[in-house]
Amino acid sequence: MRSTLVRQFGDPEQVIELVDAPRIEPAAGEVEVEIALAAINPSDLIPVTGAYRARTELPFVPGFEGVGVVSRIGPGVRDLKLGDRVIPIGSSGLWQQFLVRPAEWCFRVPDDVGDSQAVVSYVNPLTALRLVEDLRGHFGSLEGRSVAVTAAGSAIGGMLMKLIEREGAVPTAILRSDKSRGRFVGDQRVIVTADGCPPPARVFDAVLDAVGGALAGELIRRSISPGGILIQYGALSNVPVPQSAIAARPDVRFAFLWLRNFVHSAGRGALEAAFARSFAGLRDGAFSSPIAATYPLSRLADALAHQADPRRDGKILIDPCC
Ligand SMILES: NC(=O)c1ccc[n+]([C@@H]2O[C@H](COP(=O)([O-])OP(=O)(O)OC[C@H]3O[C@@H](n4cnc5c(N)ncnc54)[C@H](OP(=O)(O)O)[C@@H]3O)[C@@H](O)[C@H]2O)c1
Repeated sequence: MRSTLVRQFGDPEQVIELVDAPRIEPAAGEVEVEIALAAINPSDLIPVTGAYRARTELPFVPGFEGVGVVSRIGPGVRDLKLGDRVIPIGSSGLWQQFLVRPAEWCFRVPDDVGDSQAVVSYVNPLTALRLVEDLRGHFGSLEGRSVAVTAAGSAIGGMLMKLIEREGAVPTAILRSDKSRGRFVGDQRVIVTADGCPPPARVFDAVLDAVGGALAGELIRRSISPGGILIQYGALSNVPVPQSAIAARPDVRFAFLWLRNFVHSAGRGALEAAFARSFAGLRDGAFSSPIAATYPLSRLADALAHQADPRRDGKILIDPCC
């Protein structure tokens, strides 16, 4: 089967290989999923660079998000049958034609959710739901609260803007350029300020941050009201949030959210409930992600180059069948 492999850490465009790999027989409790579509997310590429090398074993097949069809069933699997469309989660390995996973880590996709929606129904929607849940946990209710979202031009940034507005809060998109400004309409506020530039003059109750670095540091220092919160869930600047900024604001809570922690502690029931909310959000548009292009796996190098292009305007998908 067509597959990919990372044998050494480094620049994803240099170290992710296209390989021919043997198909694996599903063991007891496992199913084989023929992957129809997989997504490329920033979180797929970070482990490839070696950023988490202490907990990343080489070699590995990258890709945390995708959708496929159950193609073989191991002994003892009762809840899935051949042909079921599922989202296999809980480990990487989606950037290949066939993936074997325990059946309990596969979540059925409703018939009215197409592959091109289901393929992006996991990483960003479930993280966005957790982030809003954490904000609710901090404030009790989000009604009337002002919440800023950095890197709002990202797929998850767009989802957060919509979720926050639905909670009755006032969302502000912080963008690094005017490129994605047109996505924010109606009452949604927009501020353009890049990492390293002066922070917005406004003050917010909360900030959801995927940039880190100087921007997050300045937001903590100057742009969050006492009793407020900054939740960091990404570091697109590749620079950590300065500890000095966190120390300077003991009246502001600094928290970190990592989807992986939720996925590996929540249990099957909570994950099913989260997917149900994700599918509902796909139907009503809250979790729609613009798709920039779909590449056959055989053109992985082009897909990765497009992913790295700052002009990219949406998700890059991979079709492992060809
Ligand atoms: N903690 C978790 O468990 C978790 C889960 C999901 C996502 N994330 C994180 O969320 C972030 C976004 O993920 P995604 O899938 O939504 O990405 P994406 O759709 O690929 O978004 C990338 C966009 O973010 C904006 N961007 C990139 N670098 C930026 C920077 N330095 N400053 C400001 N904006 C920047 C750009 O939009 P413009 O070109 O319009 O500026 C870029 O097109 C990533 O850091 C990812 O790791 C974390």
